[in-house]
Amino acid sequence: MIYSSLINPYFAMRRRAIVGAPQFSRPIVFAKLPRAPRNGSPVPHLTSLYHNADAGKYGDRSYPGNCGGNLIKDLLLFFRPRLVLDPMTGSGTCRDVCRELGVPCRTGDIHQGFDASSSDAMRSLAGADAVDFVWAHPPYWRQKLYAADERDLSRTQTLDAFLDRYAAFIQAAAGVLAQGGRLAILMGDYSDREAGFVPLVYHTKRLAFEAGLRQCCTDIIRFSHGASSGRKVYRSAFIPGLHDVCMIFERSSL
Ligand SMILES: C[S@@+](CC[C@H](N)C(=O)[O-])C[C@H]1O[C@@H](n2cnc3c(N)ncnc32)[C@H](O)[C@@H]1O
Repeated sequence: MIYSSLINPYFAMRRRAIVGAPQFSRPIVFAKLPRAPRNGSPVPHLTSLYHNADAGKYGDRSYPGNCGGNLIKDLLLFFRPRLVLDPMTGSGTCRDVCRELGVPCRTGDIHQGFDASSSDAMRSLAGADAVDFVWAHPPYWRQKLYAADERDLSRTQTLDAFLDRYAAFIQAAAGVLAQGGRLAILMGDYSDREAGFVPLVYHTKRLAFEAGLRQCCTDIIRFSHGASSGRKVYRSAFIPGLHDVCMIFERSSL
């Protein structure tokens, strides 16, 4: 025991945690990532495991549900769209990334009265132009509440009501995409005591396929660096989810 403490203090702590009282502070763990194959990608560090802890200077980190901008930046550098829509823009993270890259971007949010689940609203955001990229970071159902507007997806009272409005959004987004255009959705699974575990990543794919889209590349598992839940303490036992998932769908035929 003395030797294992000297050689690897984290290993010694792990053993104590199993037999002793619950441990509420843990050391940072460094995981070895698999090596990615070399290929012609203009963004070689963009793989199925997205672990960039730096959010970048985009949007407002204090906005509830804010996501870092670097994943969006890497996707835009990879797909090179000519026009981006962000219909659930929140603090404008995607807009800021687009501004830096010089890519035209149109945004809306329920806070400004824009309802992304309405196909009319999505068509007017797109205008007459061919949209080749939609970035969407919707609410993870009611994990965080956003606007005091009943059309806000986070305000839906039941899972069925959420999925109905989410399906309407995905269909509306698919409807404005040009042939070959892409819809990138960042979504996380959700759970609470009443609903149990809700696999929102699965539902996202199901609804996108029903809207006639096909997934065009690997899931991108985004490590949830900086999530507020990481600092909380729970008495119950569960397997913590430390990621959300970015899925990219393509409109391949009309
Ligand atoms: C997860 S947050 C997006 C945060 C954003 N990515 C950022 O970095 O700041 C989800 C956003 O969806 C918006 N929203 C919810 N329902 C909506 C709807 N029906 N139409 C448009 N926006 C909606 C919320 O107001 C919130 O700003």
